[in-house]
Amino acid sequence: MSISSSLPSSPFSPIRWRDDRLELLDQTRLPEMETWLACTDPEEVAAAIRCLAVRGAPAIGVAAAYGLVLGVRTVEEPGAALAARFSEVSELLGGTRPTAVNLRWALDRGREVFERHAGASPAQVTRVLLAWADALHAEDVRVNQKIGEHGAALFAPGVRVLTHCNAGTLATAGYGTAVGVIQSAWETGKVAMVWVDETRPLLQGARLTAWEMQRLGIPFKLVTDSSVGALMKRGLVDRVVVGADRIAANGDAANKIGTYTVAVLAHRHGVPFYVAAPLSTIDRATPHGDAIPIEERNPDEVTDVFGRRIAPAGIEAFNMAFDVTPHDLIAAIITEAGVLEAPYEQSIAAAFGEEKKG
Ligand code: MRU
Repeated sequence: MSISSSLPSSPFSPIRWRDDRLELLDQTRLPEMETWLACTDPEEVAAAIRCLAVRGAPAIGVAAAYGLVLGVRTVEEPGAALAARFSEVSELLGGTRPTAVNLRWALDRGREVFERHAGASPAQVTRVLLAWADALHAEDVRVNQKIGEHGAALFAPGVRVLTHCNAGTLATAGYGTAVGVIQSAWETGKVAMVWVDETRPLLQGARLTAWEMQRLGIPFKLVTDSSVGALMKRGLVDRVVVGADRIAANGDAANKIGTYTVAVLAHRHGVPFYVAAPLSTIDRATPHGDAIPIEERNPDEVTDVFGRRIAPAGIEAFNMAFDVTPHDLIAAIITEAGVLEAPYEQSIAAAFGEEKKG
């Protein structure tokens, strides 16, 4: 069966549907090589998510949406067989990364679409799911552009901004969240330069954010993670903006390990610390940060660098992929619905169109 996507090839996206398959810009190879990984079944998509070939909460959600398409398209029988395969694939993809709630969010939306068409033929369901995955992709870019606009309005001209990990184009379907805010503020002449920290252990800052900044032509300097305190003490950082993998109902925000350290330092030095994320990253079913599951990854990522052992043989390492920044360290959460401020329970409820009594 040949199915074509209606997605435009620009703006730049690390995720594309081409020739009946999902193509992902392989982020494990950047910046040395710009190679695309072709996925023809959901097992390959799950493997790409696990090894971080595709990464960043919104990008994982969009990749998983296409994974559902790849899962149902080989089913021959409608009805129970199709439903069983859908559930199997959804579970496989949903189990790849526990902290990024956009993954579960996308899979739940996919299930709603699937259930509305459960009686249709596999070919018809595949077409409907592909159109939905394309719409999700396009929606993510639009949402990020809105986040960028709202975030830029918070910046005064000439600011020096620090960001952690990569919450840019590569971490989304396009444009990025935290990097989208920086880009939007840069385009309106407000950003003097950006501090990009390396983000150990997998160096998403050094490899990916630096690659993006260079492409965007935004002046930046790469620093080690441990430089952040000294930079702030010297008065060289005016704003921090980071992304998030999951935001609890009270505003506590999980993001790449090291974010909490940056937030504590920002608080100590009076630097406003912002989180930029779509509403799909807000998990209202999780009341506070302690209830957010934190992914623990292979200790080899800490003991080894690019496949070369740097720690002594036989030692143990502990590799938490994320940490949680408590809401009282967050100056504002920048979403497509606007800039949310404390008390977050109320502002989050309002962003979802509800009123919450204080
Ligand atoms: O482990 P990663 O690289 O997927 O972690 C990514 C982050 O922590 C990002 O900051 C977060 O997902 C937001 S992406 C817009």
